[in-house]
Amino acid sequence: MDHFKINEPDFLRAPTPTLTRMRETGPLVAIKIPFIGKCWVTTTDAAARALLKDEVHFVRNPANAGGRDISRYYWFLPRFMGVLNRNILSLDGTEHARLRKAVDQHFSRGAIDALQPEIKQIADDLLDRLDSTQPIDITKEYAQILPLDVISKLLGILPDQRTELARAIAPISEPTTTWNMLRAMPGLYKSLKLLRAEIETIRKTPRAGLLCELIHDAENNLTDDELVSLSFVLFVAGHETTLHLISDAIFGLTENTQHRAIFQSNDSATTFRAVEKYMRFFSPVMMTKPLFVRKDHVFHGQAVKQGEKILALLIAANHDPERFENAQIAELGRRPNAHIGFGFGPHVCLGMHLARAEAQIALDRLFQRYADVQRAPQDAAPEYTQRFGMRGMRRLMVQLKP
Ligand code: HEM
Repeated sequence: MDHFKINEPDFLRAPTPTLTRMRETGPLVAIKIPFIGKCWVTTTDAAARALLKDEVHFVRNPANAGGRDISRYYWFLPRFMGVLNRNILSLDGTEHARLRKAVDQHFSRGAIDALQPEIKQIADDLLDRLDSTQPIDITKEYAQILPLDVISKLLGILPDQRTELARAIAPISEPTTTWNMLRAMPGLYKSLKLLRAEIETIRKTPRAGLLCELIHDAENNLTDDELVSLSFVLFVAGHETTLHLISDAIFGLTENTQHRAIFQSNDSATTFRAVEKYMRFFSPVMMTKPLFVRKDHVFHGQAVKQGEKILALLIAANHDPERFENAQIAELGRRPNAHIGFGFGPHVCLGMHLARAEAQIALDRLFQRYADVQRAPQDAAPEYTQRFGMRGMRRLMVQLKP
């Protein structure tokens, strides 16, 4: 097995050399990922798309590939983790479609367009509180809080609960090591308890928000465990990922200052394309969850065995020279830009319209208020997150100037 290091700061800073070597090895390469263990990852756009759309040969729940159910697959984890692991991302076929149907309409483009005024208000309130007299960590004080506030509001989670939940799950953003994963367990247990309590409270006293709608959705009739795992995924996926897109883009705009004018233009078609550019170039979620091989076969020239795991390496697809000319360059307004940064196939990101709107608004509002956002001199080398599979800033110190 080659030792491709896809989570080291060198890779996160400049992934092209490693991605090129990986691609030279083949469309599938074997690597080892903390927690997941030995697995294959795709190295091309074609292999990633083929993997993600093929529900005959690849499944999300190992039970459908001759193994244990996903709730018990990671047998070494405490039992309560079974509920969280059996979530929308790890189910197949009708089980997956059932959950997806319950939430799809709430994240449609139309539903997200209707949310825009609230997202703008949240962005403006946060900007009002930023200190422009000294360097601040824009990741913590803006890029993270904006999507957290938005998803909490959308779900109908009250500010106190939101703060407790965010605190409880914070350790999962620490560098992915076995020790840190174990350290995260008490917080995950607490988040599960908090969500169960919140669901109970809302059941008794309805309030605005998606959680309440799902609880009272007689058509889809979700169980308590489904409600907990779904709201957990929405809460986590709803802010951790967008945080990285926004912080990556701010980082990009401190490197390439002439691009800022785009976010001062009030031209939503252009800002949309610019955000898509960052999505492709940075690929803030670098890989999908594992898929399991249903039966032995040959996939893109590589023999794969039942039960083996394959992940789509989205960053490799998005930097594939067969698909993108000058893939290593963050070209503005690139067209066509058919990246798969939000995944592909039945599990394509539910929240992509929301993420795009949040990133566009976050950047528009920031650069319209502060024409000049400079990296603080003490932050010459920004810190990347060490959360496996994510490409974003752990800390980005900037000085805001009107
Ligand atoms: C820039 C921000 C985001 C990125 C890069 C991103 C990326 C992704 C990717 C790559 C997948 C597919 C994973 C796989 O196939 O294993 C996914 C799925 C998902 N995302 Fe996002 N996401 C973002 C924001 C959001 C937001 C704001 C939400 C809020 C609800 C969200 C909710 C979900 C859910 C629920 C799924 C699972 C869909 C399913 O299994 O059917 N994501 N996302």
